[in-house]
Amino acid sequence: MNKVIDPFGRTFQTLRVSLSESCSMACVYCVHSESSLSESNADSTSAVLTVEGYLSIIQSIHHITPLTTIRLTGGEPLLFKPLPELIKGIVNLGISSIKITTNGLQLLDRLSELKEAGLRSINISLDALDPDTFYSLTRVNKIKKVLDGIEAAVSSGLEVKLNTVVLKNFNEHQIVPLLEYAAGRNIPIRFLELMSMGYLNKSHESYFVSQEEILDIIQRVTTIARIPRSMSSTANYWMTARGWKFGVIANSSEPFCMDCNRLRLDSYGNIWGCLSSTVSYSAKNKTQDELQQILAAALATKQTAFSGSALSMKYIGG
Ligand code: GTP
Ligand code: 5AD
Repeated sequence: MNKVIDPFGRTFQTLRVSLSESCSMACVYCVHSESSLSESNADSTSAVLTVEGYLSIIQSIHHITPLTTIRLTGGEPLLFKPLPELIKGIVNLGISSIKITTNGLQLLDRLSELKEAGLRSINISLDALDPDTFYSLTRVNKIKKVLDGIEAAVSSGLEVKLNTVVLKNFNEHQIVPLLEYAAGRNIPIRFLELMSMGYLNKSHESYFVSQEEILDIIQRVTTIARIPRSMSSTANYWMTARGWKFGVIANSSEPFCMDCNRLRLDSYGNIWGCLSSTVSYSAKNKTQDELQQILAAALATKQTAFSGSALSMKYIGG
């Protein structure tokens, strides 16, 4: 039985767990310069959670309200060295749906250990296929590494999806090539409306491309049919005339907050109820009763529509 519920009847079954604030890319929609780029888990101070710390909080939450899915995020979750140990620990808690959202850069190196540990599903960010466009968005010149990681993930039998953040005057011309690329590998791709987060919070309008504009671009090359939305899905999905499945995550055009089933845990042990909220609650060293109150308080910060935040997603766990 789920013991934590908000005034709109929302509960949560999915916990998004951030493993690091560091990232091996410096995407223009996330950070304002490449100075924040990091090849290692640079924030691993004594304040951040260890594997034991994560497992203890996840286990306590799972006791209060059963979790069906853990999605590991960041920053870049593959920078977290003991990732296989953490995945195995989560499996041992009885939560088998363990997913990850990654920028794909370290994927080729780490794929087999992650799969062996029990990872089943992976969302990989891919904002462009053209190397110059990829560089202009991510500020790293390593598209081949990401593409090799995607090929390996697909061949390994993992469930793979691609995420593309669409930015005006950056990568609209990549939408159709990316759709074809995903179709060629029989994997869904989701195009993401830019969310007003982080340093673009105030200026995001000038870079924003709407779901309607994304669909217009795709409909220049194919007819499309909408697929009914599943409960709590972030994405709306369509099928092209040739049977290619793609989605749009339309945070602004079609907010999906009313049936949101997620909470977030950051790498410092704080619980966040909502991407639009700047309030978090520490879940470290709490009794079950205290934790239950914290979860209820976090859930109560959930908005009814995405309203943006000055915090960059990499600090909350995208
Ligand atoms: P699937 O379960 O595979 O559909 O994954 P997902 O879409 O939940 O996760 P992913 O990490 O791939 O996130 C893709 C995008 O979904 C994020 O960048 C956000 O734009 C959006 N998103 C994920 N969770 C939330 C949420 O709780 N609130 C809002 N507003 N957007 C979210
Ligand atoms: N708007 C939309 N998507 C974003 N992502 C990161 N920042 C933003 C933003 N401001 C994406 C990442 C990743 C997913 C978790 O969120 O590219 O695919």
